[in-house]
Amino acid sequence: MYKFGFIGTGNMGGAIAEAVARSESPKNIIVSNRTREKAEILAERLGCTVGDNDDIAEKAKYIFLGVKPQMLENLLISIKDKLKDRKDRFVLVTMAAAVTMEKICSLLGENYPVIRIMPNTPVSIGMGTTVYCVNNSVSRDEKEEFVFAMSKSGVTEETDEKLIDAASAVSGCGPAFVYMFAQSMADGAVKCGLTRALAIKLAAQTIMGAGAMIIETERHPESLKDDVCSPGGTTIEGVEALEKGGMRAAVIDAVCSSYNKNKKL
Ligand SMILES: NC(=O)c1ccc[n+]([C@@H]2O[C@H](COP(=O)([O-])OP(=O)(O)OC[C@H]3O[C@@H](n4cnc5c(N)ncnc54)[C@H](OP(=O)(O)O)[C@@H]3O)[C@@H](O)[C@H]2O)c1
Repeated sequence: MYKFGFIGTGNMGGAIAEAVARSESPKNIIVSNRTREKAEILAERLGCTVGDNDDIAEKAKYIFLGVKPQMLENLLISIKDKLKDRKDRFVLVTMAAAVTMEKICSLLGENYPVIRIMPNTPVSIGMGTTVYCVNNSVSRDEKEEFVFAMSKSGVTEETDEKLIDAASAVSGCGPAFVYMFAQSMADGAVKCGLTRALAIKLAAQTIMGAGAMIIETERHPESLKDDVCSPGGTTIEGVEALEKGGMRAAVIDAVCSSYNKNKKL
């Protein structure tokens, strides 16, 4: 038996397996992937076991489903009988955007324990954000065990399932928006004469430091921004340029567009 099984070791499933392997013994972890070689490479790096989907459906306590949402239904149908045959408890952990816990149970025809998570890619380096919710079949011990397993992935936040799409538009999709911002800052710096390497490093570290300031000081971002803007100084010129470029509206639109797409899936 294994404590954690990962079916689908792509970007997200693989990143979470890496995070879990930092708080749990790799002996407790089994991974599988459609292209088996991908799972084998990951397993070698983590020192865990490779299997197939059926092995995980039969033997893992927490079964992480890391396939794309449009592939989830077929996957669940393919492991349905194995799950039904089990006599021990297990918990399904889904990360698929826009697929409810109820939908998963209805596809499987049982009210199994399900944890729905919305992680982001920084979980692979222990700096992720994972929003999660649980259905009423998950016990308190299982929830605690899951949170402990995720403890080296970054921050975990419980929420109502009805808010998970909104959370996903910020933290699930957000890294892409931030990478674009970092790239744009670096482009500006290169235009002003910095090397590309230094420009990217300064932009990334600035984003990390500013994010940490919001969390650690618990101050409002607007007030922290005001601290940087000296009267008649250089920063307020840049702030004006961002306002003229419609930065706030563009970012609000980005989050809402991702949210609306989630709703349509
Ligand atoms: N990427 C993100 O930032 C992010 C954020 C939050 C949530 N998610 C969620 O995470 C899930 C995975 O997304 P992703 O970005 O990690 O996709 P991905 O990189 O394409 O990974 C999906 C993996 O599933 C494997 N797979 C497909 N069908 C399978 C099957 N029947 N059995 C076993 N493995 C199978 C694929 O194998 P192959 O190697 O053969 O293609 C691939 O490695 C999605 O539900 C997505 O909504 C992703």
